[in-house]
Amino acid sequence: MLLELGGPEGVAATVDELYRRLLHDPEIAPYFVGVDVAAIRIHMTDFLVAVVDGPDHYAGRDLASAHGRLHITDAAFDATASHLLDTLEDRAVRPDLLDAVLDRIAPLRASIVTAR
Ligand code: HEM
Repeated sequence: MLLELGGPEGVAATVDELYRRLLHDPEIAPYFVGVDVAAIRIHMTDFLVAVVDGPDHYAGRDLASAHGRLHITDAAFDATASHLLDTLEDRAVRPDLLDAVLDRIAPLRASIVTAR
């Protein structure tokens, strides 16, 4: 799946565009106040490369530890997943691959959403 997303460079470009969108979304941007986005961007890229069957170089925290203090809602998770899918769609990724990426992201909700 990694090759069809443009390889590691394609994923890195996707993550750059994703963060641009997240930081411009008034529902999402507040979560990132005081966060070193440049640093987590690298972790996010490595994480997503591994998610799409690329080599696993991820050296960040586990997702529950990274997000636990943030009180992330289901709505914020849905909005973030939508921004990711929109970004991939704008990069002309095939619809069946969008579904495959979504299938792999969806189970992460349990580790990320803590505001219930
Ligand atoms: C869609 C699934 C998501 C994935 C795969 C993901 C992945 C990651 C990764 C890999 C990190 C870096 C962890 C580290 O550097 O140790 C991170 C950090 C972070 N994520 Fe997510 N994330 C997701 C959803 C979200 C959502 C929904 C929000 C908020 C709306 C969010 C907000 C943050 C913030 C603020 C950080 C920085 C935390 C800190 O440095 O203290 N993430 N995420």
